[in-house]
Amino acid sequence: MRAFISILSVLLCLQLNSFAQYPAPALIPQPVEMKTGKATDNFTIANQRTQVFISDSSLRPSAEFFINFVKKHYFLELTLTTLADANRKNVINLIQESPASMALAKTPDNPERYKLDVLNVAVTIRSPSPAGVFYGIQTLIQLLPPSAKPLPLQAKAVSITDYPRFAYRGMHLDVSRHFFNVDFVKKYIDYLAMHKLNYFHWHLTDDHGWRIEIKKYPRLTTVGAWRDGSIIGLYPGKGNDGIRHGGYYTQAEVKEVIKYAADRYITIIPEIEMPGHSMAVLAAYPELSTTPKLPKKVAETWGIFNKFNNVLLPSEQTFNFMEDVLTEVMALFPSPYIHIGGDECSKIWWKQSAFSQQLIKEKGLKDENGLQSYFIHRIEKFVNSKGKTIIGWDEILDGGLAPNAIVMSWRGEKGGIAAAKQKHKVIMTPENFMYFNHSQFLKEDSLTASRYVPLANVYNYEPVPAILTSAEAKYIWGAQGNLWTEYITNPANVEYMLFPRLDALSEVLWSPKSKRSFPDFQKRLKQQLRRYDFMGIRYSKKYAL
Ligand code: ACM
Repeated sequence: MRAFISILSVLLCLQLNSFAQYPAPALIPQPVEMKTGKATDNFTIANQRTQVFISDSSLRPSAEFFINFVKKHYFLELTLTTLADANRKNVINLIQESPASMALAKTPDNPERYKLDVLNVAVTIRSPSPAGVFYGIQTLIQLLPPSAKPLPLQAKAVSITDYPRFAYRGMHLDVSRHFFNVDFVKKYIDYLAMHKLNYFHWHLTDDHGWRIEIKKYPRLTTVGAWRDGSIIGLYPGKGNDGIRHGGYYTQAEVKEVIKYAADRYITIIPEIEMPGHSMAVLAAYPELSTTPKLPKKVAETWGIFNKFNNVLLPSEQTFNFMEDVLTEVMALFPSPYIHIGGDECSKIWWKQSAFSQQLIKEKGLKDENGLQSYFIHRIEKFVNSKGKTIIGWDEILDGGLAPNAIVMSWRGEKGGIAAAKQKHKVIMTPENFMYFNHSQFLKEDSLTASRYVPLANVYNYEPVPAILTSAEAKYIWGAQGNLWTEYITNPANVEYMLFPRLDALSEVLWSPKSKRSFPDFQKRLKQQLRRYDFMGIRYSKKYAL
């Protein structure tokens, strides 16, 4: 009997062992290649005994990110070491190494690639770049359980080779329609970092508020950063709430946010809107409008083609002003790209302006679209003279594209396709797929912009239009999700609109096209939502039902 029981227990053990192979961890975005190991190979993170080794000081931000994450969420203290020791156990090795090294030789030539190996003695993340190591850290975090208990804390055993599909992986936030403070902007940047995004498009100016300190023009913030009220309900709205709303970032705060993002391998692209979406500028400096004698207010009504929303007059005074503003902006932001807006500039004002009509004649321009193109060309020339490149919304195609401009295609894909055919870089952000300010559900609990952009639309979006030849398709630099905040009034609202559409976006941008599957994503999402519960992220709970 005893012998029988022990044979039975051996058999049972063998059986359990074969089932003990972990199911594939639920990672988002799905990596290129993943092999899962045995549970006995899981790595245990131990308070104070687990060290994080960095091969190079450039990897310190990645090590610190991980150490802080584990401390904040699991209450464990890890130590950082720069001393190499091949025999060290219980270590997380972060290694920047030559692309020709043994470990990386078989990976494709992508500067952001990484290799992650989790074994019981050590975790090793290798990449030719610090950014790649950081992405490996983000994956490692997803191998940890979405709960601080039970201890010991273990990372699942895996071997992963991974790299992004697109070089531009962006997310935008409009801080003009509603202002979000530095602490929340940093949190937002962390959300992008978690999803291996690498560009944050910071929409800093619009009709409804100017949000960045410009030393030469203080009225931009003393006047332009504040509005006296906002319409109530969906545009055109029912009345005005009469509540003063505003705020802005000082240049010191902007620098702090830029550094915070850089430590997460995120480039911040500032957007300074022109020649439309300029009511906050014109409230402060009405002389830059087509009706300089008429007083103006920071806009309180959403929408742009109305009788109040004047635009910049294309005068020398305006160009000098915008060049001064851009000079301060470019000195602050290391980004090689500056977004200059260019969208939805109502032409009624230039039609009625004698100065603008005279300029059209003088410069031999065809019409007001030609004038918009002239405006953007001049600004581009200035930005280029400082060694930077402009990005503009697809209206910058109207009247002729500026020679070096990158196009952000939002009115569908038409503009992006046209730009790619003209050999210009393109960022795809079509409204019906990439605008997260629209509703996620047919019936929403709170007010949103009026279209319907469910999770599946975002997930199934393909940034490279089939109509492009393979040579043209190379100009599709990537895609971006946009979050306009007319109806998004606070951080909880932002998180509700962002999650989990950000997860879907990350997979569009990072994962191989051949690996994308919405049903599979939905399964993995369940685990991700548990992680959000654990991290206190206020996603749309309807997904958890
Ligand atoms: C935009 O949505 N006006 C770019």
